[in-house]
Amino acid sequence: MSVIALKSPHIKVTVVDVNEQKIKDWNDENLDKLPVYEPGLKEVVAEARGRNLFFSTDIEKGIKEADMIFISVNTPTKTFGIGKGMAADLKYVELCARQIAEYATNDKIIVEKSTLPVRTASSVKRILSEQNNGIKFSVLSNPEFLAEGTAIKDLLNADRMLIGGEDTPEGKEAIEALVEVYANWLPKDRIITTNLWSSELSKLTANAFLAQRISSINALSALCEKTEADIDEVAKAIGSDSRIGSKFLKASVGFGGSCFQKDILNLVYLCRYFGLPEVADYWEQVIILNDYQKHRFASKIVHTMFNTVTDKKICFLGWAFKKDTNDTRESAAIYIADKLLDDHANIHVYDPKVTEERMYEDINYLNTRSEALNAEKLTMEKDPYEAAKDAHAIAVITEWDEFVTYDWQRLYDSMKKPAFVFDGRNILDREALRSIGFEVYALGKM
Ligand code: UDX
Repeated sequence: MSVIALKSPHIKVTVVDVNEQKIKDWNDENLDKLPVYEPGLKEVVAEARGRNLFFSTDIEKGIKEADMIFISVNTPTKTFGIGKGMAADLKYVELCARQIAEYATNDKIIVEKSTLPVRTASSVKRILSEQNNGIKFSVLSNPEFLAEGTAIKDLLNADRMLIGGEDTPEGKEAIEALVEVYANWLPKDRIITTNLWSSELSKLTANAFLAQRISSINALSALCEKTEADIDEVAKAIGSDSRIGSKFLKASVGFGGSCFQKDILNLVYLCRYFGLPEVADYWEQVIILNDYQKHRFASKIVHTMFNTVTDKKICFLGWAFKKDTNDTRESAAIYIADKLLDDHANIHVYDPKVTEERMYEDINYLNTRSEALNAEKLTMEKDPYEAAKDAHAIAVITEWDEFVTYDWQRLYDSMKKPAFVFDGRNILDREALRSIGFEVYALGKM
């Protein structure tokens, strides 16, 4: 919404939320307080806020004033009931639709921005039309393809913008209205229009295809370790085939983030629902492989350290699910830490952007052991050298650029010997570390 406001000064953009603290932070003079860390976001908000970008908790007014409403609430995986652990929980979307139906006094275009399972638009439309007060609603699907950490860049220079709508005169008019918004900065040939259902399904499958590549390369990283092939060389060889391409072929401790796992599980659930078990199993395997990779990394740490990490200090570099974000949702760090805590390790974490509070919420959410025990065995440090002091091992979990530039000699000198490095992102120079004296493990490498 900030980027839309930045690029379309003639459009008034109001972001409304029930969470008062969040809105307060979005309005804070101090731009470092914005609830989301994203390179370039501060500058965008600084320019547009107060001009044509507003943040408010007055939802009723926001709905009444708007001609176009973006539903951008979260759609987490259900944790209970039918579809538990797989289907998307649409309660917030439904609540939004009901609120819009209640407060609206003129015709509106409703844009589904949240990632939704295919055919949600029909439910949204049903709820909106039940009110029967003569108001017309057009529902569009406009999934977001930006990735965190590069959100502003991705939006300003999007490969494509997808808009799905109904094949009726009103539907076409609504599509055109949204095309005009994005045409303020994107060339029209990058704005793809489709029917509603294609647009909804494209988002889920785009993420499934990307995640599938990571699981494929991670599966091969395990094979490389058995055969003395080198995963980065294999990735390069595969990636230089232009039909395959070089992106999303970096071996890692496993993908995280709010989208991949959730969207694939959602896709699996839809396939089962429509009676396609083989298709469901096929996509589920992407998740199974991702869990395997996290598990494999944690086991590698334990086995390499003489089969025990009990009371040993292990330093984690990174807790976020990838670099340049403070987002930790589904981060591999959480699961790797959990496994090592099961083995009674003491984990000291350093991450440039993640807060201590967030880290404890993540680990306590798993509910594997008491919060008191988590607090005792897991510590957040403000300084990486402090996190590594007297540690037996360093595990690189997130690919933050700064980790590469640390004084590794200094880290080595302050650690217990033998000093281990487990590079879960293959970002460090193995030979340089070995010449310092480290024992180094990297994914899919000798
Ligand atoms: C993803 C999609 O890319 C985006 O289009 C969609 O709108 C939302 O979901 P995001 O979750 O922000 O975006 O991050 P992304 O950059 O795709 O990375 C996802 C995970 O995969 C991260 O944990 C990342 O570290 C990991 N990854 C990515 C790899 O392990 N290897 C790679 O080669 C690429």
